[in-house]
Amino acid sequence: MKTVITYGTFDLFHVGHIRLLKRLSELGDRLVVGLSSDEFNELKGKKSFFSYDERAEIVAACKYVDEVFPEHNWEQKLNDVKKYNADIFAMGDDWVGKFDFLEDLCEVAYLPRTEDVSTTKIKSTLSSLKKSELDKIESSLHDVISIVKTMSRS
Ligand code: CTP
Repeated sequence: MKTVITYGTFDLFHVGHIRLLKRLSELGDRLVVGLSSDEFNELKGKKSFFSYDERAEIVAACKYVDEVFPEHNWEQKLNDVKKYNADIFAMGDDWVGKFDFLEDLCEVAYLPRTEDVSTTKIKSTLSSLKKSELDKIESSLHDVISIVKTMSRS
């Protein structure tokens, strides 16, 4: 039984996440995912849209994932690799080199990320959409006001 271990926040679950998890699952027989807890995200200066429980429910429902456990700090990886008897530790290639210290315990791999999608990008697209919607409403209101003014003059 070959076990693969990976980590992440997996907020606003998207196609980049699915593709990574699929490729990770193909590296072995069992995929376990360390999911950043809300407190750990806070420590990293991040705030996820979905809570840990919601993200855990979503990631665990993914057919490529066998188990989800919380990641509370940067230091726990060494213990987790031992605890889960992981043969391969793998992450997207935005992390290249960062976890090479685990090479004494298991194989370490960095897989290419899916281009042009990230939680950060989705969040910024959604917030700019919101602004553009507000701008449209504001401009429509100005139109209504000028129509009302014109009507009241005539
Ligand atoms: N990932 C990927 N392709 C993407 C986005 C993420 O392969 N387009 C991988 C990351 O490399 C990581 C895992 O998915 O191994 C979880 O990444 P996470 O940081 O939760 O997702 P991001 O979308 O990168 O989120 P953020 O923008 O907040 O960094």
